[in-house]
Amino acid sequence: MNCLSPSILSADFCRLGEQVRELDEAGAQYVHIDVMDGSFVPSISFGMPVIRSIRECTERIFDVHLMIEEPGRYISEFADAGADLITVHAEACRHLDRTVGQIKEKGLLAGVALNPATPLSAIDYILPAVDMVLIMTVNPGFGGQKLIPYTIQKVRDLKKKIDGQGLKTDIEVDGGITLENVAGVMDAGANIIVAGSAVFSGDVTENTVRFLNIINS
Ligand code: DX5
Ligand code: ZN
Repeated sequence: MNCLSPSILSADFCRLGEQVRELDEAGAQYVHIDVMDGSFVPSISFGMPVIRSIRECTERIFDVHLMIEEPGRYISEFADAGADLITVHAEACRHLDRTVGQIKEKGLLAGVALNPATPLSAIDYILPAVDMVLIMTVNPGFGGQKLIPYTIQKVRDLKKKIDGQGLKTDIEVDGGITLENVAGVMDAGANIIVAGSAVFSGDVTENTVRFLNIINS
């Protein structure tokens, strides 16, 4: 299924609950929650207390993107805070198989993210065990960056791998996605679309509906 996962990193934090409800009412199926630790990526964003608070605003899928070192230390806490899907970076896990196992043991969906320069071969063996692969289309750490063009080919290569193995793994793209380039990344094979600044700059409902019209067409 094709889904929109607006990234609340670009939300107005004074009105976070209100904006999460707005995404829900406009029809976004996921809420993308970027957790940053100031070590794996330069920025620090927010953590469990924020996730727990907004959990009361919507039943939509909480798509928690952990940009933190050794996320295995916190899987249980993110699960308790309300995550439905937890994505960890292959580059941040010394024992990726164990960390994915921890997510599955909690009964959650598991995703693995790859930075732009990380080869797809990093997930060759774990691919059948994950529900989603997140292809970073920018270097993680900030909203509002430009999509790195070669990542589109990476999405295409991943889609081929998934289909070739008869898997149903979702492909999520994150970073620099706009109303202008979303059709191109979907054509390459992505089906879960993260958009931060393109949803939150201007009218949130209008932008969400515009994305959904393209995504569902
Ligand atoms: C980047 C984050 C993204 C970010 C996307 O490190 O993982 O989810 O919020 O923002 P835009 O869509 O503005 O590039
Ligand atoms: Zn993200």
